[in-house]
Amino acid sequence: MINTVSVIGLGKLGGSMAAGLASRGLNVIGVDVNRQAVDAINAGRAPVQETGLDEMIAANRERIRATLSTEEAVLGSDLSFVIVPTPSDERGAFTLQYARYAFKALGQAMHKKMGYHVIVLTSTVLPGATRHGLLPILEHESGKKCGPDFGLCYNPEFIALGSVIRDFLNPDFYLLGESDSRAGDLLEQVHHRVSQNNAPVKRMSLENAELAKIAVNSYVTMKISFANMLADFCEHIPGGDVDVISDALGMDKRIGRKYLTGGFGFGGPCFPRDNVALNFMGRQLDVNSSLLEANDDYNRGLSKRYVDKLQTHLPKGANVAVLGLAYKPLSHVIEESPGIYLCRALSEAGYRVVGHDNLAAPHAEMELKMSALVTDSLDEALKDADVVLVATTDKSYTELTAEVLLHGRDKVTVIDFWRCLKSLGEDPRITYVPIGLCRDDDATSAKLKPLWM
Ligand SMILES: NC(=O)c1ccc[n+]([C@@H]2O[C@H](COP(=O)([O-])OP(=O)(O)OC[C@H]3O[C@@H](n4cnc5c(N)ncnc54)[C@H](O)[C@@H]3O)[C@@H](O)[C@H]2O)c1
Repeated sequence: MINTVSVIGLGKLGGSMAAGLASRGLNVIGVDVNRQAVDAINAGRAPVQETGLDEMIAANRERIRATLSTEEAVLGSDLSFVIVPTPSDERGAFTLQYARYAFKALGQAMHKKMGYHVIVLTSTVLPGATRHGLLPILEHESGKKCGPDFGLCYNPEFIALGSVIRDFLNPDFYLLGESDSRAGDLLEQVHHRVSQNNAPVKRMSLENAELAKIAVNSYVTMKISFANMLADFCEHIPGGDVDVISDALGMDKRIGRKYLTGGFGFGGPCFPRDNVALNFMGRQLDVNSSLLEANDDYNRGLSKRYVDKLQTHLPKGANVAVLGLAYKPLSHVIEESPGIYLCRALSEAGYRVVGHDNLAAPHAEMELKMSALVTDSLDEALKDADVVLVATTDKSYTELTAEVLLHGRDKVTVIDFWRCLKSLGEDPRITYVPIGLCRDDDATSAKLKPLWM
């Protein structure tokens, strides 16, 4: 039975995995090239910001330690998870430069090790990368053979930032690609021990697991775009309400309600890039992946389309406030964030834009320096705003009152992407524009009628 594992890469995912593994009784040796991450773990602190991570590391201190040395970690453990960055390149593919470096160190460490060891890649890669891009490095550096001497698995995690620990300990299933059954058996044992919800393990080849991982994310993004398209349809039928439609669709077991709330686009560090990468792979392999391309185009074009279609509510030269710059509430991450794209689209259309975010303001300020003022003060963002666009469902926005939005003026327009401030529609001083709801039954009826003449 495996009692000690190592975790190579203590970032947003690896840091939480190390804590999660230790919380389930495993001894964990963390490795990072960044001394600050190593020092943080050894001081009993979280190396990155994540819900509950500080507390979990502090509570399991006796079972977690960290080092800069991959060799020390490999010699001291039986299995190593590798969670280093695999950034997207200009073509949309995932690069392996960090993974290659990590695998070289792992191979050199295995050269010095007597017993069997399992290497588990968790970073997101494209099909074939583990076997053809990384395994040869392990065999070359260690002088050993995959199978008899060591095992290799591909085992991604389906987690969301902000709930990484909970998701890691309670997954829907474990996706396990394996070089051979000995390696897969050992990793499966680790998962049975770690899982709080007795999650099933789906075992397969390395390549099938690599494809399944990005297919899951690409599929979910298609669902989001579908809901966003339905939101648009609903604005064109009398009484149209995207939430009513989504609730109905969600009752169908083939569809399900999750990720089917129409509103704004998808963003963040995983969804857009996994979709783009799968499309890249499709082009390389002569697979018609135009579905994925259409989804990406649709999502990237949302902000600009909203700015165009909301022209009647956006008077020329208006001061506009965009609330929510992170890609989702309670996050400081702005990668591919719809709120950021919206600020840019508004600025390009000639508006004076102020962006607000409680957590993401420092990052957003750098990103938007040519297009918008950025603040973490809601008061500052709202004080001169003629139009307020609510881009995320952060609690500080869903609890906004008419008085706070008006800020002493006699009128303001509120564009609500998530329909979280519906009661504002009753206030005569507020022009309330909910996305995904019909706003003019007569006009939409008049447009429908000729279709049936
Ligand atoms: N963050 C997520 O939500 C998420 C979700 C699913 C999958 N992933 C995948 O996990 C991988 C890592 O993502 P992340 O968000 O944790 O990245 P991150 O940048 O937050 O962390 C990566 C860590 O790896 C360290 N590192 C780099 N090279 C190293 C090496 N050779 N040896 C040891 N440490 C090294 C870095 O210093 C950093 O601390 C990526 O492939 C990503 O696509 C991330």
